[in-house]
Amino acid sequence: MDFAEILLRPIWLMLPALVPNSAAVLFGGGPPMDFGRFWRGRRVLGDGKTWRGFIGGASAGIIIGLLQLLISEPFSSDHFGFGSASSALPIIFALSFGSLLGDVCGAFIKRQAGLERGQKAPFLDQYDFVLGALLLAFLVNTDWIIEKMISGNAWIGFIVFLLLVLGIHRGVNIIGYKMGKKDVPW
Ligand code: CTP
Ligand code: MG
Repeated sequence: MDFAEILLRPIWLMLPALVPNSAAVLFGGGPPMDFGRFWRGRRVLGDGKTWRGFIGGASAGIIIGLLQLLISEPFSSDHFGFGSASSALPIIFALSFGSLLGDVCGAFIKRQAGLERGQKAPFLDQYDFVLGALLLAFLVNTDWIIEKMISGNAWIGFIVFLLLVLGIHRGVNIIGYKMGKKDVPW
């Protein structure tokens, strides 16, 4: 792999995890996932986690993953790292759902820590979804995560992806705020 490939590969492979988190902001609204319930005196998840955001976001991630398979098919039977369609599909599902499950877990931790919806929790806000996506994909296909995100030079591209997430997270939340979907621009 040349240098550009090392840098771009993890971004390409993590797109189905990146998109759901951003798309949830756009789809968000309607009944909250916890239906307003409390646990230990705090909201379970809060009004920032809605079913529309969860389902819409996860669907967006899966659709992006399927599009990636489609457009890469003529150039690479490996789909530039996703593997054959039969190995790629479970990975794409795991990255998309894992992403929003991680986001939900992050919200649960924030609420239990006494942080209101939208209050800042550095690291957790930016990376809960990355952790969730990696964890679920790791359970679904351990070898794939190790090979594509860690082995050889792959970790360099993965670090670049993590830095990119910071910028995208910021940008998407400003857009969400301007659209009236978020109470705060971060
Ligand atoms: N969103 C949603 N459903 C989800 C995830 C996100 O509707 N499952 C929408 C909400 O409108 C939310 C926005 O996307 O406000 C941004 O998500 P996030 O920054 O994670 O939520 P916060 O409002 O910051 O709330 P929290 O403190 O719980 O993270
Ligand atoms: Mg959050």
